[in-house]
Amino acid sequence: MGKSSRCNGCWGWLLAIIVLAVVAFGVFIMIKFKNGDSILDAAPVPGAPGELTKTYADALKLAMQFFDIQKSGKLVDNKIPWRGDSALRDGSDAKLDLSKGMYDAGDHMKFMFPLAYTATVLSWSILEYGDQMKAASQLSSAQDSLKWITDFLINAHPSADVLYVQVGDPKLDHSCWDRPEDMRGKRPLTKVDTTAPGSDVAAETAAAMAAASLVFKSSDSSYSSSLLAHAKDLFAFADKHRAYYSVSIPTVKTYYNSTGYGDELLWAAGWLYHATGDHSYYDYVTGENGEAFANWGSPTWFSWDNKLAGAQVLLSRLSFFGPKDLSKKDILQNYRSSAEAVMCGLLPKSPSATSSRTENGLIWVAEWNSLQHPVGAAFLAVLYSDYMLSSRTPKITCGSRQFSPLDLRNFAKSQADYVLGNNPLKTSFLVGYGDKYPQFVHHRGASIPADSNTSCLDGFKYLESADPNPNIAYGALIGGPFLNETFIDSRNNSMQTEPSTYNSALIVGLLSGLVTTSSVARSLGQ
Ligand SMILES: *[C@@H]1O[C@H](CO)[C@@H](O)[C@H](O)[C@H]1NC(C)=O
Ligand SMILES: *[C@@H]1O[C@H](CO)[C@@H](O)[C@H](O)[C@H]1NC(C)=O
Ligand SMILES: *[C@@H]1O[C@H](CO)[C@@H](O)[C@H](O)[C@H]1NC(C)=O
Ligand SMILES: *[C@@H]1O[C@H](CO)[C@@H](O)[C@H](O)[C@H]1NC(C)=O
Repeated sequence: MGKSSRCNGCWGWLLAIIVLAVVAFGVFIMIKFKNGDSILDAAPVPGAPGELTKTYADALKLAMQFFDIQKSGKLVDNKIPWRGDSALRDGSDAKLDLSKGMYDAGDHMKFMFPLAYTATVLSWSILEYGDQMKAASQLSSAQDSLKWITDFLINAHPSADVLYVQVGDPKLDHSCWDRPEDMRGKRPLTKVDTTAPGSDVAAETAAAMAAASLVFKSSDSSYSSSLLAHAKDLFAFADKHRAYYSVSIPTVKTYYNSTGYGDELLWAAGWLYHATGDHSYYDYVTGENGEAFANWGSPTWFSWDNKLAGAQVLLSRLSFFGPKDLSKKDILQNYRSSAEAVMCGLLPKSPSATSSRTENGLIWVAEWNSLQHPVGAAFLAVLYSDYMLSSRTPKITCGSRQFSPLDLRNFAKSQADYVLGNNPLKTSFLVGYGDKYPQFVHHRGASIPADSNTSCLDGFKYLESADPNPNIAYGALIGGPFLNETFIDSRNNSMQTEPSTYNSALIVGLLSGLVTTSSVARSLGQ
């Protein structure tokens, strides 16, 4: 607050009023989605975010840059010196403009299933932690990156029951090693529709658009309404024509196979309820679909394929902060108990702690892109910890033990710190962070000098080169270590050195949660 005051005598009164207001509100504090208003809004959390933690603020700023590196289309205010316009004709075969969006990873595919998930997670991060992003000067960048994706989602959904789910053919795309700016190959389109439906990909896209509609609600209401209209249509399509997209379109199995669509349907309905307040979406998650798909009580890992844990945390939000007169509270409690089962699995001292961990405490579930699971889990843990703090919920019970919000936050920190270099290799897995980080990131654009004009095949010499990447993919969160905590920094080791947009969304969410103690955390903790 500025110091200039024309009325020194007023300050005493003002202070008294502020203190009274804070005390009065303090009793009824509820967290809310800070950048959009939904029917669930309660009193805002008083006070500004706490002091920034420099390590996390620096890491957050860096992580946000990877979205700029992945942007396709005609760039606006491009901040990456080695990037330029690309894929300007994407979508033209269907007379659509699919030039925007983001490349998935080290390649130049646009895969809707993980890209929409990226947008949902980024939206969630902005909604919960927008104030903290703002304090770290990252909010507008996060909103820009989100809009770069949602513009694409809108164009990829030209009519109610048609969604384009892939731009490019992975076989063709992966047979080249070129810069996106120099791509000259065909970019075939793949879609789902009523004859080849895909509930998973359609519902994830609906979730992304519903969540993003909340992000843009106050800054651009017509854009927000448009997103919401698309989200509703897509959800209806997903629900009515139930199918796995990887069954309708078997070729997608190779990269982003979907192992279920019930999780996306619940997740999308949860987001639509938050965005609209329309009770039919609440009935959806608490009715027979909840029974069919929620798998209550069984912890799962949050990932681009499985959003069940995310849906449980999101729906717990209603249990913590929703209207007091909500019906079917017992069903809602099932979601909350399931979210707590997830948390109990993560906490290392919990009786139900998962054994999927490295010796030094990193959650470790899969060899490919091993960091996705710990970072995703830590993001959910920091959210849950803040829901507990904001609702004055002191403990969760895991078997014979109880844990506090601080325990959850400390778990989340441990995963973030590991990623940032507190590990046996003393290496950061966030490119550009710290003294030591991967030099051979599996990323075409980063590996090829910006002034070369490589065609499809002659670029492979850069993949095979023994030199580090000429361009640093700042902010890339790469695949990560083996279970034995070793890691091979090699460009052809895509399992460990390839980054992805969804990894970025998850680490951005996690770091935004950790970058400052929330005001509520401060008022309780110190
Ligand atoms: C893809 O998912 C289906 C459905 O769960 C599963 O049966 C199949 O084995 C998976 N395929 C691959 C290649 O992972
Ligand atoms: C790059 O090469 C292609 C084909 O060899 C050519 O058409 C194009 O003009 C070149 N671009 C630049 C910037 O030199
Ligand atoms: C670590 O695990 C990887 C993958 O399983 C294996 O290839 C490597 O040999 C192991 N390294 C050590 C030092 O055990
Ligand atoms: C990857 O590159 C390393 C050295 O850069 C080499 O030893 C290894 O054989 C290569 N692996 C594959 C699968 O090409």
